[in-house]
Amino acid sequence: MSRAKITVVGAGNVGATAAQIAASKGLGDVVLIDIVKGLPEGKALDMAQLKGVNASAGNVVGTTNWDAAADSDIVIITSGMPRKPGMSRDDLLAKNAGIVKSVTEQIVRTSPNSFIIVVCNPLDVMTYVAAKISGFEKNRVMGMAGALDSARFACFIAEDLGVDIADIRGVLMGGHGDDMVPLPRFTSVAGIPLGELMPQNRIDMHVERARKGGIEIVNLKGTSAYYAPAAGAVKMAESILHDSKTIMSCCAYCDGQYNVGGAFVGVPVMLGANGVEKIIELNLNEKELSELAVSASHVKELVSVVETML
Ligand code: LAC
Repeated sequence: MSRAKITVVGAGNVGATAAQIAASKGLGDVVLIDIVKGLPEGKALDMAQLKGVNASAGNVVGTTNWDAAADSDIVIITSGMPRKPGMSRDDLLAKNAGIVKSVTEQIVRTSPNSFIIVVCNPLDVMTYVAAKISGFEKNRVMGMAGALDSARFACFIAEDLGVDIADIRGVLMGGHGDDMVPLPRFTSVAGIPLGELMPQNRIDMHVERARKGGIEIVNLKGTSAYYAPAAGAVKMAESILHDSKTIMSCCAYCDGQYNVGGAFVGVPVMLGANGVEKIIELNLNEKELSELAVSASHVKELVSVVETML
């Protein structure tokens, strides 16, 4: 098989970190693209020099020219404004919709057979924009949020229990906002249900902290997180390129599933060579279903606003 090609759009913190992680994993040839002349070239040059220290790192080409992205297998969209303190993810809607629209037009032109992984906010709505503008089959367009939000939830649980974070597997649904739905009933530590190891009040505390996990970091450092978000996007790309059939939460198109009815929201999926190969349907209880309905209706409201901007 020929080497995979991964294009990362946006050479800011998330994009450059994603390019670097993808290259260091040897996922394929990486193109880092931005509209700001010098930024992608400079970061790619820095990464080329990193190879002098760490020979296992792969190649990253930095460019402002979309032709360099031609025939990518995967395109990760990170371009857009990040949050500042006091901003919600929804505050970025108008600005980022325009950016995602024009980026997606370039993707259609240069890489019509690619899979698109959206990382910019408001995440679920920007995933919708990429799907609508590209016209790609729904299994080829997805958003990265669940990998990050579940990792946050796992991080707080691991810290609390003093266990290896790698042993924690969790499921999380809904939109990537404060009303996201972490699912402790479907979270385990080395196969042990979370409820066996932790009282409900501590579980609730971690659920709440995961919901506000993004703003906690914005408030600490003045702008959005990027290490874990970038790693989440690369993990999705890897699962597709390696046909891993990985089950993880991501923003995917739900039709009949979970009563969501025609919207992109976070759900557990199986990722493989065909992108979102399956949506895993869990037997949610009434409380979980109603929390998911609230979160999905919030996403749909924003989608109806963005419709007027496209
Ligand atoms: C966060 C941003 C990336 O949750 O949405 O940190």
